[in-house]
Amino acid sequence: MMMKTLGLSAVLSAALSAGLIGPALAAEVEVLHWWTSGGEAKSVAELKKMLEAKGDTWKDFAVAGGGGESAMTVLKSRVVSGNPPTAAQIKGPSIQEWGDEGVLANLDPVAEAEGWDKLLPGVVSEVMKYDGHYVAVPVNVHRVNWLWVNPQVFEKSGAEIPTTWDEFFVAADKIKAAGFTPVAHGGQPWQDSTMFEDVVLGVGGVDFYRSAFVDLDADALNSDTMIEALEIFKRIKQYTDEGASGRDWNLATAMVINGKAGMQFMGDWAKGEFTAAGQVPGKDYLCVPAPGTTNDFTFNIDSFVMFSLSGDDAGKGQENLAVTIMSPEFQEIFNLNKGSIPARLDVSMDKFDDCAKKSNQDFIKSAEDNTLIPSMAHGMSTFSSVQGAIFDAVTQFYNADGMTAKEAAANMVSAVQAARY
Ligand code: GAL
Repeated sequence: MMMKTLGLSAVLSAALSAGLIGPALAAEVEVLHWWTSGGEAKSVAELKKMLEAKGDTWKDFAVAGGGGESAMTVLKSRVVSGNPPTAAQIKGPSIQEWGDEGVLANLDPVAEAEGWDKLLPGVVSEVMKYDGHYVAVPVNVHRVNWLWVNPQVFEKSGAEIPTTWDEFFVAADKIKAAGFTPVAHGGQPWQDSTMFEDVVLGVGGVDFYRSAFVDLDADALNSDTMIEALEIFKRIKQYTDEGASGRDWNLATAMVINGKAGMQFMGDWAKGEFTAAGQVPGKDYLCVPAPGTTNDFTFNIDSFVMFSLSGDDAGKGQENLAVTIMSPEFQEIFNLNKGSIPARLDVSMDKFDDCAKKSNQDFIKSAEDNTLIPSMAHGMSTFSSVQGAIFDAVTQFYNADGMTAKEAAANMVSAVQAARY
């Protein structure tokens, strides 16, 4: 027996080194993503590890920049030059835009073999399909409408956790008076809009939010409610510090982690930073819904699309990638690091912390209560051109001296209309 096995492997390795046969299942997978912060990098490293364990080679195509705007620009030029990567992090309605270009691979065979329709909630599987066919595979569900709180800063300032916008400003005044920065913020368009959509939801509620950011209804975008939301949003600026302009989101999270700031408005990828810093929710930091949004859930689903590439190797690599991403083992370990919850319904939440457990319960409940809504700031509610138009109007108003909220609302309407037609 021993002789035979040895003999066989010697023949195989001789054939391999002579190039007579290739490594049957191994492929190189080049994956575009923008996960470069501490928590994000730890999460994506798990994907690399699992793929390499299957014999594939991971070619990292990381383009830094929270929210992924730079990554999308780089991706477009790669695809236009006829050289797309194996897979790319693309989400929400943008998947439809890429589908229209005819460059995506059909993942139906693997999706059918693995039963994705049964494993994924409808709100997730819907986003993953183009023209009824699977073209993307989901890694997680992020909740965006969180407020991250440093409880020590609150205690030292005598502030209470806010549940309404009025309470928020009372708390912010106390934190400021105690010498801390009330709100850790990074002045980049996607971060401005992340904070802004929280205010719109808190002030206007889910129906208003949907009219404005999903239906793009001009009356909603130009309404008194929108003007009120813009005013509150702008009022928050005086509670941020001077270094906010241009700051990366994870550096803003670090201000909450190390006790310089009291709060941050950010999706739960921020939890990846707290986790990477060894902090524990309920003790070192708190996760609470943004004021006025307790029963609502703004979702942001990260996913990878596969490009249609020639060659069996490429197809095999894509299949391995899709199967790995959907595996319960990956969905668990990735999301423990990333701060999100698994996209699959059947992954146990036992190892997850209280913030993730709450997110999971609220995700299910908000789907039942019809308060589950797509994040505008994270590309879930509109096409990228419209999202860009809203970003521009919001950030311009946030930074302009002397512009009224009424003018900003009018700007938003015309920018959205111009982007749509
Ligand atoms: C979001 C993305 C998250 C996180 C964040 C900051 O758009 O969905 O996974 O990475 O950007 O980079």
